Amino acid sequence: MNIQPTGQALGAAVTGIDLRRPLSDADFATILRALTEHGVLCFPKQSIDAPELRDFSARFGSMQILRSGQDATGVPEVSVLSNIRENGQPVGIPDAGQNWHTDMTYNQTPGYVNVLVAFEVPTRDGQTLGATEFTNTARAYDELPDEVKTRLANATATHDLNFYWEFMRQAKGSTRAPLSAAERAAHPPSRHPVFLTHPVSGRKVIYVNPGLTERIDGMSDTESQATLAMLFEHVLQPQYRYTHRWSVGDVLIWDHLSTWHNAVADYGPQERRLIKRCQVRADRIFDPAFVKAALAH
Ligand code: SIN
Repeated sequence: MNIQPTGQALGAAVTGIDLRRPLSDADFATILRALTEHGVLCFPKQSIDAPELRDFSARFGSMQILRSGQDATGVPEVSVLSNIRENGQPVGIPDAGQNWHTDMTYNQTPGYVNVLVAFEVPTRDGQTLGATEFTNTARAYDELPDEVKTRLANATATHDLNFYWEFMRQAKGSTRAPLSAAERAAHPPSRHPVFLTHPVSGRKVIYVNPGLTERIDGMSDTESQATLAMLFEHVLQPQYRYTHRWSVGDVLIWDHLSTWHNAVADYGPQERRLIKRCQVRADRIFDPAFVKAALAH
């Protein structure tokens, strides 16, 4: 395997590996180390089907299964992100990830890794559209003023799926129905530390995000909003950012715990984008025995 860093705040290209084949323990260890160091890894020119995508993703943990938007090949862990409509029906989720966030922080067990593969990428006048943007929340933590690190050292924040859902419903053309009472009950808000310790790197990260974090616990509305706005502005500074411009066949994985991401919706309805995705939970990565065993090779 060859790992070529982008030289930017995040990202490396990984070549010399065929993700269709089961990963050896040594290859998994190399990928886990690279993911922890670079936050976002691109494996270009892969030709991977839905079961292979699921099997690769399963090395990192268990997967979220969505209630809709699944891949037609019948692998429930694989969902389709797409603006394409066939026979008047959407072939996938059209607006997934279109604001800055970290997946599943509304759950007690949040997201650890996303694994995406690109099948169709929109272009216009020779320019690739539909990029995915990232920002490095570990580096952003390092460069926070000491006063903020101390003040929020033990703070927690509340994350809520409904908060995100209602924001997405405001977007022009959204077809999302409100969450039902049953869906809201199935996804009660969760609390996480404002500064989380990454289970592999041991580094602190800023673990609030614009999409899903409703408030900082124990603060007045005004103080919570001002504090979140300050943290969000800090994390979104250009020096922490990286943009991935897709090519067909890219498998892109990222570490949710040390990044935020944003899917850029700069393409029109006729400019086709088709991506398949697995969302891995942080259920195994917080187990020190799993990390120790994974890195032992
Ligand atoms: C996501 O948030 O997982 C989707 C990212 C993308 O489609 O670029």
